[in-house]
Amino acid sequence: MFLITGATGGLGRRIVRLLRERGEPVRAFVRLTSRYAELEHRGAEIFIGDLLRDRDIHKACQGVQYVISAHGSNEASEGDAESIDYQANIELIDQAKAAGVKHFVFISVLGADRGYEDAPVFKAKWAVERYLQASGLNYTILRPSGFASNLLPLAERFRQTGIYLLIGDPQNRSSIVSTDDLARIAADSVTLEGARNQVLPVGGPEILKRGEIPRIFSQVLNREPTILNLPLFAFDGLRGAIGLFNPKLRTSLGTLRALLANEFFCTPTEIQRLETLFDLKLETLESFLRRYLGV
Ligand SMILES: NC(=O)c1ccc[n+]([C@@H]2O[C@H](COP(=O)([O-])OP(=O)(O)OC[C@H]3O[C@@H](n4cnc5c(N)ncnc54)[C@H](OP(=O)(O)O)[C@@H]3O)[C@@H](O)[C@H]2O)c1
Repeated sequence: MFLITGATGGLGRRIVRLLRERGEPVRAFVRLTSRYAELEHRGAEIFIGDLLRDRDIHKACQGVQYVISAHGSNEASEGDAESIDYQANIELIDQAKAAGVKHFVFISVLGADRGYEDAPVFKAKWAVERYLQASGLNYTILRPSGFASNLLPLAERFRQTGIYLLIGDPQNRSSIVSTDDLARIAADSVTLEGARNQVLPVGGPEILKRGEIPRIFSQVLNREPTILNLPLFAFDGLRGAIGLFNPKLRTSLGTLRALLANEFFCTPTEIQRLETLFDLKLETLESFLRRYLGV
């Protein structure tokens, strides 16, 4: 039995789909308020709970061989990086160990080890990585760059308006990963000998400048782009103003700032290692967009 947390998320639902297509038994950890009908239709066992409650985590781990932690704090979460990205994972690791879980896959983030002081999610991921490595569990830590699926709503808006809002330096590089490839890598990590007790950066096959993304949208959707480039200092000004009446939001925006201000890409050697290890050809952003946008 696989336990998938974050099963209703962009990544989690793809992991559940893939495992069910392979006929694997899956327990999907979901909140009562989230949209999980699709997972149920695919034959996943639905476990309704909240990762903020330790007893739910304890119950969810019973009878489980593999855990894939794919949850995260977002706008819809009631918890923040400390409770969701850090504390819930620590509890999950402890309960997985107590339940005799064979392998634990943790979805971290590229750059978790860079020590971004002002970015709560990065700090939480780094602390969880170290805790998992010291836990005695078999593990795989995946450090992905940005997900291609995050760009789908932006591409839809681009399709309607031709507008692309780019915050920060258009020269900054990233290697956007196909969320479907990442789901496969996460699912395969539990059985692949070479992935055991490894920390693996995961990106797409190309290193893209952020300014190239609207050009790819333009190519795929056959529409001239209007790029609105907001400098980072404008974002900082806005964040400072928000902080005057909502200090908690100001703190959590630190993670977004780290994402906007820095480069997140994998080297060709890292990509080659990944493709060899998982025996797959990583998908380009353009191919991912064409599949999902039907063009
Ligand atoms: N997106 C990226 O570009 C990116 C890049 C690098 C790493 N990552 C990491 O990859 C993982 C997956 O990201 P994603 O974009 O797929 O996430 P996502 O779409 O934001 O989904 C987050 C998931 O966590 C669940 N969750 C949040 N709070 C919960 C709680 N209290 N109890 C139970 N479930 C809760 C959400 O459930 P609800 O449906 O109920 O809200 C949702 O299923 C995360 O760990 C993220 O940090 C993401």
